[in-house]
Amino acid sequence: MEKDRIEELVRAYTREHHSRKPYQKGDRIPYSGRVFDEEEVWALVDSALDFWLTAGDYTEAFEKGLAAYLEVPYCLLVNSGSSANLLAMAALTSPLLKDRRILKGDEVLTVAAAFPTTVAPILQCGAVPVFVDIDIPSYNVCPEQLEEALSSRTKAVFLAHSLGNPFALDQIRAFCDRHGLWLIEDNCDGLGGTYEIDEKIRKTGTIGHIGTSSFYPAHQMTTGEGGAVYTSDPLLYKILRSMRDWGRECSCPGGMDNLCGHRFDGQFGTLPRGYDHKYVYSHIGYNLKATDMQAAIGTAQLAKLPDFVRRRQENWAYLRAGLAGLSDQLILPEKQEHSNPSWFGFILAVRPECERSRGEIVSYLEEHGIQTRNLFAGNILRHPCFQDLKEGEDYRVAHSLENTDFTMRNAFWVGVYPGMTDAMLDEMILRIRKSLN
Ligand SMILES: Cc1ncc(COP(=O)(O)O)c(C=O)c1O
Repeated sequence: MEKDRIEELVRAYTREHHSRKPYQKGDRIPYSGRVFDEEEVWALVDSALDFWLTAGDYTEAFEKGLAAYLEVPYCLLVNSGSSANLLAMAALTSPLLKDRRILKGDEVLTVAAAFPTTVAPILQCGAVPVFVDIDIPSYNVCPEQLEEALSSRTKAVFLAHSLGNPFALDQIRAFCDRHGLWLIEDNCDGLGGTYEIDEKIRKTGTIGHIGTSSFYPAHQMTTGEGGAVYTSDPLLYKILRSMRDWGRECSCPGGMDNLCGHRFDGQFGTLPRGYDHKYVYSHIGYNLKATDMQAAIGTAQLAKLPDFVRRRQENWAYLRAGLAGLSDQLILPEKQEHSNPSWFGFILAVRPECERSRGEIVSYLEEHGIQTRNLFAGNILRHPCFQDLKEGEDYRVAHSLENTDFTMRNAFWVGVYPGMTDAMLDEMILRIRKSLN
């Protein structure tokens, strides 16, 4: 059978079964959702028909495409944003980094108002997370508190751009440079945002030493499950690739052999000379690779990413303008100075003087079809997963976490994803207003 015929049918099927139905008043308004058309479905089927399954042509195209979008030389596709964070953190423990390597007991500065797998890799890699508070309404770290949290064992700063709002990248990168620290940008919620630094506009995720992305459906683009790590540093790239791919030394892609021409003549560790380079392991690694089918969806989504980002920005601005009059009852979000965020969501916090509690407002909104979310873990230290960990030993709290706790109790967020229409945004504005009555 001709592939063209299959393509025609797949495209027709997608148009028939997956076209977006226009919003009708009373329909549920989700906080996020996949936005796709026949391009994604055809790319997925095309990769299935190839049946390569593991990383192949689509993976190569996707990694190159994302690197070009971000304007960095190196990008690796992985199977989730959590894997991307684990890989970024694990890479910094590599012996190849010599005295800058993160060792057991070294400290990594972060926040407790976090997604759990921004913090978990720090612990999983044997390091000690050190928590500082956040600022409201940016919901990002207070840069001055990083200086106070510093100790002789601090080796890195690992932070997410909160709901896409970039943290103070200029101050924090300068702080890291001043103290010889690594900076990992968890860009899982911020892909496509920009920040002006040294008079240049750069994409978030590319100003620190390593950036990470998640392509879970809620994010700026999707591959189903999936994620990426990116860097401009060739040594970090070599380590990231090795650790993603079982810890191996060799960089031949799957299905290829002896690209370096030295497959059988090297000396590694105490192995016999000429031991097959394909099976030499320079790191205690993982297998965090994704499939070519995920990459195929990603290539189609990547072509739409600039438009997705623009629509998120427009939707955020529409909500911000529509809710401006409520600032006596709700703390409205503010974008970080020098940035143009690629918003993940629209966050609100209920002021102490407001007559309604978060619980009442959220219940009202959910009852009226508007999906809401909390700022992830709120305060990760208050979760059962931290109950068996010892403060001062397994982790350190460098500051009162007053704003973190305030956020945990009083903040919630609603969506701005590209599938939203003005009618949906108007309904959200109306319902948020009414929820305060
Ligand atoms: C800030 C942040 N980091 C990491 C992740 C983890 O990504 P994934 O769900 O792809 O593992 C998420 C998920 O939403 C996130 O919001």
